[in-house]
Amino acid sequence: MKEGLFGQIEMGQPVCKSLQRRDHLTFRGNASLGRHGWLRLTPAYSLHLVRELLKETRSDEMVLDPFSGTGTTPLACASMGIRSDAVDINPFLVWFGNLKMMPLGDYVARQVQVASTRIAEEIDVSHSTIWQPNLHAIEKWWDTPTLHALAALYCAISQHPHERGEHVIDLLRVAFCRVMIQMANVSFGHQSMSFKKNGVVATDSLLREGSGDCVRRIAGAFVVSAREVANSITVEPPIAEARVFLGDSRDLSSVLCGRQYTTVITSPPYPNRMSYIRELRPYMYWLGFLSDGRQAGELDWKAIGGTWGCATSLLNTWTPNGYSEIPFSNFDQIVREISKGHALLGRYVHKYFEDIKSHLLNLRKVLAPGARCHYIVGNSKFYDTLLPVEEIYAELFKDTGFVNVGIETIRKRSSKKELFEFVVNAQMPG
Ligand SMILES: C[S@@+](CC[C@H](N)C(=O)[O-])C[C@H]1O[C@@H](n2cnc3c(N)ncnc32)[C@H](O)[C@@H]1O
Repeated sequence: MKEGLFGQIEMGQPVCKSLQRRDHLTFRGNASLGRHGWLRLTPAYSLHLVRELLKETRSDEMVLDPFSGTGTTPLACASMGIRSDAVDINPFLVWFGNLKMMPLGDYVARQVQVASTRIAEEIDVSHSTIWQPNLHAIEKWWDTPTLHALAALYCAISQHPHERGEHVIDLLRVAFCRVMIQMANVSFGHQSMSFKKNGVVATDSLLREGSGDCVRRIAGAFVVSAREVANSITVEPPIAEARVFLGDSRDLSSVLCGRQYTTVITSPPYPNRMSYIRELRPYMYWLGFLSDGRQAGELDWKAIGGTWGCATSLLNTWTPNGYSEIPFSNFDQIVREISKGHALLGRYVHKYFEDIKSHLLNLRKVLAPGARCHYIVGNSKFYDTLLPVEEIYAELFKDTGFVNVGIETIRKRSSKKELFEFVVNAQMPG
């Protein structure tokens, strides 16, 4: 038994009861934590977890998160006075992350509230040509009156850009996103978003409500949402510099202009076929980061572990590059087993680890001697084959020249017995 950061852990043994339910170690625990709670996006991990890991970090260090997502790591660093950089391949998350890091104060908070009240009064659904996002089967997301009211609200937010200023409009867009998703016919499972089964019933009752009532309901929700966003701006605000760069973590050295990092805290995509584009598409279409399905699939193909839209057909033709072996003794056997169930899944797993290997090789170029790395990862199961993700990461770290590699179990991920979340620790040689 060893005492890790996250409690007593016995590797390879059934995890003790205290590990079984640890909601504060997931993104759910971030909901009420100032800027961290702005949008409840599935890729986020726990702020609590990051803060635990940052306890070992001095204020003169430089932290890197090469898979920034919603910016949990850089925002945690910035509010603790530690400088950090982050990278993500998704332009919406880069926009959102950088907005979270902005040094915004009381004045902007007041402007957001004043503007939201005015916008709520200005929503005008009478135009027949109001822009709506080109989201596939949009009628499954919102009934017609709600969609018209949301589109009119979104249009009103973008008015008077010179008077309102860029940051105020961006914060109003965040407030809009909270309302848009609150009004959508979707629910959030432990891992992904799905359409509610009783959506049609909800649609009928909303249609009876009439468009005037619908506009009032959405306007009211928007004012409340804007007030919550405004109030959270000054809660544990960032006091150190943090930036999120758009780029590929397999090519960090060309994204991060020569800086060297002493600590890495990150959560790469898990090899579980969850697509961030799929999860984030309502936000991305409304805010103009996506305009059609082809674009969505192409972006997901660039992401590690992406399988949305055309990313799936591209994966069908993918072949291993031949010179990048995965240094885990059972790896080929595991891929063969998974491929028996579905050839595409075998290829998916193989490509995932090739990508992670090329990320780790590139990561070395931006780390200072002795730099510590903490990778939060989850294992997966394909049919009956368990993929020991944490062990493969540990071997990849060793193979790419890292030392002091170790694994800690953090929590159980689902009711399925074998699925856990781990932190894989590794260090650059000194
Ligand atoms: C598990 S999420 C990170 C969650 C983050 N820790 C948070 O709290 O929000 C993984 C992220 O990796 C990003 N990603 C996937 N492939 C990437 C790549 N090649 N380069 C950079 N980022 C990538 C995804 O867009 C996603 O935001």
